[in-house]
Amino acid sequence: METKGTIAALDIGTSEVKLIVGELLGGTLNVLAEGSAPSAGVKRGVIVDIDQTVHAIKQAVTEVERTLGEPIGEVYVAISGEHIQVKDCQGMTSIKGEDNEITDDDVKDVLHSAMVMRIPNELSVVDVLPKTFTVDQQTEITDPRGMIGYRLEVTGKLIIGAKTILHSIKRSIERAGLELAGYVLESLAVSRIAASIDELELGVGIIDIGHETTTLSIYEKNDLVYSTTLPYGGDHLTRDLTYKMNCKYQDAKLAKEEYGVALEALGDPEEKVSYVTINGEHRFEPQSEIGFVLEARLEEIFEMIQKRMTQAGYAHMNSGLILCGGSSSLPGIDQLGKRIFKQSVNVYQPASLGIRHPKYAVAAGMLRYVLSRSAVSKSGFDRAEEKEVVAHGREQDALLMNEQATPVREERSTREQPPKEKKSFSSFFEKFFG
Ligand SMILES: Nc1ncnc2c1ncn2[C@@H]1O[C@H](COP(=O)(O)OP(=O)(O)OP(=O)(O)O)[C@@H](O)[C@H]1O
Ligand SMILES: [Mg+2]
Repeated sequence: METKGTIAALDIGTSEVKLIVGELLGGTLNVLAEGSAPSAGVKRGVIVDIDQTVHAIKQAVTEVERTLGEPIGEVYVAISGEHIQVKDCQGMTSIKGEDNEITDDDVKDVLHSAMVMRIPNELSVVDVLPKTFTVDQQTEITDPRGMIGYRLEVTGKLIIGAKTILHSIKRSIERAGLELAGYVLESLAVSRIAASIDELELGVGIIDIGHETTTLSIYEKNDLVYSTTLPYGGDHLTRDLTYKMNCKYQDAKLAKEEYGVALEALGDPEEKVSYVTINGEHRFEPQSEIGFVLEARLEEIFEMIQKRMTQAGYAHMNSGLILCGGSSSLPGIDQLGKRIFKQSVNVYQPASLGIRHPKYAVAAGMLRYVLSRSAVSKSGFDRAEEKEVVAHGREQDALLMNEQATPVREERSTREQPPKEKKSFSSFFEKFFG
């Protein structure tokens, strides 16, 4: 699909598998097909049953292929969760060609060298995101190809994930008859589409409220500086309603999605949802009562997020907060957010036809992220390959540098140290990929 400038993005969520195929036309995202299927083999964002996941992926693929009228070959897949770490990295290589002109192969070599890091056996390097290059003494280079030099260095970010979790994702995709084109970090993907360059520069928090997880990602100076995932989401809202209404999960889910509001005050006490209790009794639940239950749980989730933001030193973001994920489609959730976080809160949903729902933010962000990625990064290496990197000989230097790397979940004290680089990897992306 990639050769035609179109790609397929897969988001294996806890409640739904979402698949979008799209292309970028003059900076505008053009969605060619989308499909989704209920996801039964995923718990808190992690695949626990490959068979069930394969089944859901196949369903979504069938839907998309029907619209497209052609088969999907390869897909990019979103990765997220507590098992993901983002670390600073550096790499170095000598330039091989006789004329000393830097080629794609040199870039590939230097990116590979940046992946040399001693990591525990159970972890894999998923991706390397170049920030800036140095050719001999010349620093701050964004694309070194075509330049002349002897020594090429790179600084950037390394994405590391748990081998077992990544393996299940890869295996599910392959068993669904697809090829894995590469992994994309959910937080980065969403930031590409839900926030503007200015917001990412000035500081913004993105909160993805899914089904069993809520992920907060903080961006400052175009850099992902903090990320954390809570094991709460829409599933908890639905479960709270089953107790309140004494009904089946599916009935509570329907009530939530059709009549739910994030604030009791927004619910109309005269508007009543008709349903059957678990004992077979016919009952009516006022919308305001549904709002009361949802508001209480959402308030709790937001307070937990706020606590983590404060602990990490990001209590107030200059550009405020952006909500996405399926649960953020509840009316009034932005108002509730403003009340709790005491800053501007907006809900993001993709604008493209067919995916106008905040639950599509990750998949739509992936499309933009991958389609606008530079040739420098693409020339790097096969992104679908999970790397197991062992340091040898000369690579020891890189290893030692990398051992001082800090994870994304860094606290304010670390963050407040003056940045060594003027540009972040995200601004690098903007230049090349944005
Ligand atoms: N209109 C709606 N009103 C309220 N909630 C909704 C609505 N539409 C979807 N949801 C809820 O959104 C959740 C699914 O969102 P999403 O697709 O973003 O989650 P996911 O990616 O599958 O899960 P996770 O990110 O936790 O792995 C479900 O709990 C669903 O009930
Ligand atoms: Mg999700």
